[in-house]
Formats: sequence, structure tokens, C-alpha cells
Amino acid sequence: MVLSACDKTHVKTVFGKIGPHLGDIGREALVRLFTTYPQTKTYFAHFDLHADSAQIKEHGKKVAGALADAANHIDDIAGALSKLSDLHAQKLRVDPVNFKLLGQCFLVVVAIHHPAVLTPEVHASLDKFLCAVATVLTAKYR
Ligand code: HEM
Repeated sequence: MVLSACDKTHVKTVFGKIGPHLGDIGREALVRLFTTYPQTKTYFAHFDLHADSAQIKEHGKKVAGALADAANHIDDIAGALSKLSDLHAQKLRVDPVNFKLLGQCFLVVVAIHHPAVLTPEVHASLDKFLCAVATVLTAKYR
């Protein structure tokens, strides 16, 4: 997934805008993931999955933080997410289809909170970026 200079600018704009609310956006994306696609809950059987769960809140912060990290290292996403790539491929073995679902949920939450930011062009760039992240996180599956 090749991101153009324009895509990179769009992605950085989005993360600049959502930066202060990153944790909330991550939490909402996870709640949306578990509600819309309940099959994804199987990976989190050890979590309290109520909407106000402290574990979801904490995990949302981690996931959104990793996305922000990737946006900050947009020319080397593989390097920035290398450890997470090992974790998801070697330990968690999350079915790759689920990355698309989480990406969708993240996009929807950004759209709800920042409708003006998510022009069709920015939407397309953010979608490409989320696909690039998913590619990195599933690259080491054997
Ligand atoms: C753990 C990021 C997609 C399941 C993590 C962690 C991060 C992360 C930062 C914490 C690692 C640590 O504590 O060291 C991401 C990102 C994703 C993504 C950026 C894609 C945008 C997914 C998907 C699933 C998933 C789609 C399954 C539906 C898990 C599980 C853990 C985890 C089960 C371990 C949770 C725990 O026991 O604390 N992920 N993840 N991840 N992820 Fe992902």
C-alpha cells in the first residue's frame, strides 16, 4: 500500500486533530468493534467487555497510541510497529479479516467526532493508512 505525499499530509492532519482525544477514540472504536462484529470478542475473552470497562479504555488508548505512532513514522510504519507485528503474528494470531473491521470502526468514530476533517479525500487517505498498518501487523504470519 503506497501512500502518496498527499495521503501522508491527510493522515497527519487527522492525527493532529484527534490527538487530544486519542484514548477516547480508541475506546469507542473498540466498543463499536465488539458491538458491530461480536465475533471479534473471542480474542478478548479475558477482558471485561462492558462498554464502561476499564480494560477496554486502557486497550483503546494502546491501540490508538500505536496508530498515532505509525502516523508519526509514516515513512517507516513497519519499523515503528515491528514489535506489535511480532505480537499479532506470533502470539495473538488474529485473523487478518479483523483488521479491516477495526479500521472501519476507527474511521466511523473519527467521522462522528470530526465530520469536517473527514472529507472524501481524507477518508480515502486514512483508509489507505489503516490498510498499510494492517498489512504490517499481519506481515509476519507463517
Ligand atoms: C494487543 C494494537 C488490531 C487483538 C495490542 C496492543 C496494541 C495493539 C498496541 C498492546 C500490546 C502490548 O500490550 O504490548 C493494534 C493495532 C491494530 C490491532 C494498531 C490495528 C489497527 C487488532 C485486532 C484484534 C487485536 C483486529 C482482534 C480482533 C489484540 C489482542 C491483544 C492486542 C487480543 C492483547 C490484549 C491483552 O491481552 O492485553 N494490539 N491491534 N488487535 N491486540 Fe491488537
